Amino acid sequence: MNNKYQLIYEGKAKKVFSHDDADKVFIEFKDDATAFNALKKAKFEGKGKLNCLISARIFEHLIKHNIPTHFLKLKNDNTMIAQKIKVIPLEIVLRNIAYGSLCKQTTIKSRTNLVKPLIDIYLKNDELNDPLITKDRIELMNILSSKDLDLMIDLTLKINIILKNFFKNIQLQLVDFKLEFGYDFENKILLGDEISPDNCRLWDLNQNNDTIVSLDKDRFRNDLGGLLEAYSEIYSRINNFIELN
Ligand code: TMP
Ligand code: ASP
Repeated sequence: MNNKYQLIYEGKAKKVFSHDDADKVFIEFKDDATAFNALKKAKFEGKGKLNCLISARIFEHLIKHNIPTHFLKLKNDNTMIAQKIKVIPLEIVLRNIAYGSLCKQTTIKSRTNLVKPLIDIYLKNDELNDPLITKDRIELMNILSSKDLDLMIDLTLKINIILKNFFKNIQLQLVDFKLEFGYDFENKILLGDEISPDNCRLWDLNQNNDTIVSLDKDRFRNDLGGLLEAYSEIYSRINNFIELN
């Protein structure tokens, strides 16, 4: 990034830089992959670019469906221009199918189809290891009003319907995903962060048997190999679908 722009924030997978316009930022996607709160780390050359391009396509799709997001446009293949937001320190996870931490922390059997989407909210705090949090604790900590929390949950449920359909069209099952939101300068809630195989579980529906084929970061979390191939596959399915429609 041109050094006239200031690094505002560096996370595990992205860097945020100032923009000429005070209400915008540049978001640069890194090639780093982390799991288990960065206990496990690796670099995959080209991952940043794939996640940036996949996220951009998905944000564009959500914007078409009237979801307010921070995405404005791509600057280049691994950098997007977004509205500057004050990030709400919560991670909203929506689950359609039981998998991952839900099955480690409860007696719900892995791969159970959930009768309605489950929303799990985590406090975004690396030092505390992003703990699961309750509505009452959110209120106690004054993180946001209950009206805004309800709005965020409502948006997450709407996004799920749009994304489930979107991914089904490209033969992918949306198992679960994590979202982050923030306030823009007018105090409006926008979807932030990224939507990519780093923060969604996506299973290939092109399977004759019931083996799970993960095309997401579980390839890294669970040492399955082939992460870049999986992310490239998703990007090419998205592009083929967009070209046809
Ligand atoms: P979990 O089953 O490990 O709780 O993950 C649920 C979903 O949230 C899954 O799609 C991966 C995503 N996720 C993140 O994006 N960041 C995280 O730090 C964690 C723990 C999960
Ligand atoms: N993003 C988290 C981390 O680094 C974990 C995950 O995605 O599983 O550590």
